Amino acid sequence: MDLYEYQARDVFEKHGVPVLPGIVASTPDEAKAAAEQLGGGTVVVKAQVKTGGRGKVGGVRVVHSPDAAHAAATEILGMDIKGHTVHKVMIAAGAFIEQEFYISILLDRAERRYLAMCSVEGGMEIEQLAVEKPEALARVAIDPLVGVDAAKAAQIVAEAGFPDELADKVAAVIESLWTVYDQEDATLVEVNPLVLTAAGDIIALDGKVTLDDNASFRHDDHAALEDKAAADPLEAKAKHMNLNYVKLDGSVGIIGNGAGLVMSTLDVVAYAGEQFGGVKPANFLDIGGGASAEVMANGLDVILHDPQVKSVFVNVFGGITSCVAVADGIVGALQALGDEASKPLVVRLDGNAVDEGRAILAAANHPLVTIVETMDGAAAKAAELAATAA
Ligand SMILES: Nc1ncnc2c1ncn2[C@@H]1O[C@H](COP(=O)(O)OP(=O)(O)OP(=O)(O)O)[C@@H](O)[C@H]1O
Ligand SMILES: [Mg+2]
Repeated sequence: MDLYEYQARDVFEKHGVPVLPGIVASTPDEAKAAAEQLGGGTVVVKAQVKTGGRGKVGGVRVVHSPDAAHAAATEILGMDIKGHTVHKVMIAAGAFIEQEFYISILLDRAERRYLAMCSVEGGMEIEQLAVEKPEALARVAIDPLVGVDAAKAAQIVAEAGFPDELADKVAAVIESLWTVYDQEDATLVEVNPLVLTAAGDIIALDGKVTLDDNASFRHDDHAALEDKAAADPLEAKAKHMNLNYVKLDGSVGIIGNGAGLVMSTLDVVAYAGEQFGGVKPANFLDIGGGASAEVMANGLDVILHDPQVKSVFVNVFGGITSCVAVADGIVGALQALGDEASKPLVVRLDGNAVDEGRAILAAANHPLVTIVETMDGAAAKAAELAATAA
């Protein structure tokens, strides 16, 4: 889960990373009140969206009075930034910036360890810096069993080339950022820019934090950080039912058992769909090995309620899961949904108890269900049905 900047700011503060006061606001009046609360002087009005490059498109504005904060918030709220609508702004105290730096700690999957990236060259996009001036971006490996201790922080600071007089201060901030990374089970903590102020302080002026959802069971407080309003309602429903579901943009709903089979099902549907004007899969849904009839029914329930879905392809290879359970799940779900189920289903079953499974579907003889024996044939049928329904 990615956090908004204002949430990252709060998490930073909790772990002792130096930040400036910031107040989140959803209306221009709230923004004005926040600016007054921060002393009525210079503040920065910042769009809260989970994407980068806000400043460049006018989503970060320095203003000098509460009325100006009101005006800036009026412009920024509702703005579209790379497909993200701005629903909130953060009113942050203004900093007198001497210099801007970059620091991040992230999970390096390929190397199976963590990585710190740090640069004294601020003010440039980090992707651009990495390409144009790679020597200015220090990359320091972090041993997961050791983490960032004082020695590692000093190494990062030295490799990035901070001047001696700043080294200790920056190293202390890096150690605090490591605490955030470690204690909160993050996979990314990025500060761009980390700044030196005119008063000589090192402060995190912006923050990006990604939390590892697989560790959420260790963090009761993380659920509150979830943006329920922005979450896709179908994904939320699927999550509630413990389904592995990802919403995509196409029109063929997909259900399969096992991530590998579902991935290849997406591929064959996209391939077959090319013959029908570019029909594409509508989702990824893995009901897993050993799925019960109930899980099958839950999966269908989610997919059939996606208005973009025009047809559904159920592709199951019975291993631990018996095709009987799958067939029972399909029949049961269609019964339970009644008239709500109005989209054609193409079913391909194979493997464990395939004959019994197919017999159950044949006996039910539901008008929406077509049984196709091969995966490619079923993909083509599902794509065709989606194309003709559209
Ligand atoms: N509190 C602040 N006081 C003074 N200047 C600020 C403050 N916050 C941000 N700025 C200035 O605005 C610039 C952009 O801010 P920020 O990094 O938060 O947004 P961004 O880089 O455009 O967004 P993103 O990091 O999402 O790409 C900073 O580099 C800094 O110069
Ligand atoms: Mg930034």
